[in-house]
Amino acid sequence: MKKVILILALALPFFLNSCGGGSGTSDEATQDTVAQTEAAPVVDLSEGEAIYKEKCVVCHQADGVGIANTFPPLKNSDYLLADKKRAVYQVIHGSAGGAVVNGVTYKSQPMPPQGVTKEQAVAVINYVLNSFGNQGGYISMEEVADIEMPAPGAPAK
Ligand code: HEC
Repeated sequence: MKKVILILALALPFFLNSCGGGSGTSDEATQDTVAQTEAAPVVDLSEGEAIYKEKCVVCHQADGVGIANTFPPLKNSDYLLADKKRAVYQVIHGSAGGAVVNGVTYKSQPMPPQGVTKEQAVAVINYVLNSFGNQGGYISMEEVADIEMPAPGAPAK
């Protein structure tokens, strides 16, 4: 313990010196960057939002409530919120029908594979997990590393 204090005491003047020198502009710039990073959300949802509006909105609707008995809701969906990784898988591979969402079985038609990259699938799922009033947390690229990509034109799984 004594050693640590000694090292700190020796090192401190160097730190103070290095900060005090120069014009000061670069230090201010660094502080600004730090402040911005801290204020940013955990994940930027704007890419996911753009993908949702382009690809998902036609079935799941702008407010995420879907279409009764045909396209399931993403808003307050027990099925979505129960398994984030499955949701990313569904966006990549589609879903062959039969999901039971909030007690309703959706099997009149499959969800087609969405033709997105894995990054885009993660972005759009992070968007839906945190939109329409959902507070579903986040999923990372590491968590979906073992999801394989479909062959072009593959049917919904
Ligand atoms: C052509 C209509 C269609 C499009 C476009 C579509 N879906 Fe789906 N989606 C469905 C259907 C139908 C189901 C139910 C499939 C099943 O039963 O397995 C479903 C199920 C889901 C589910 C799981 C069930 C639930 O409600 O929680 C998620 C999550 C989902 N879709 C997300 C998306 C996202 C994100 C996109 C856009 C990238 C998208 N879907 C695009 C029709 C669609």
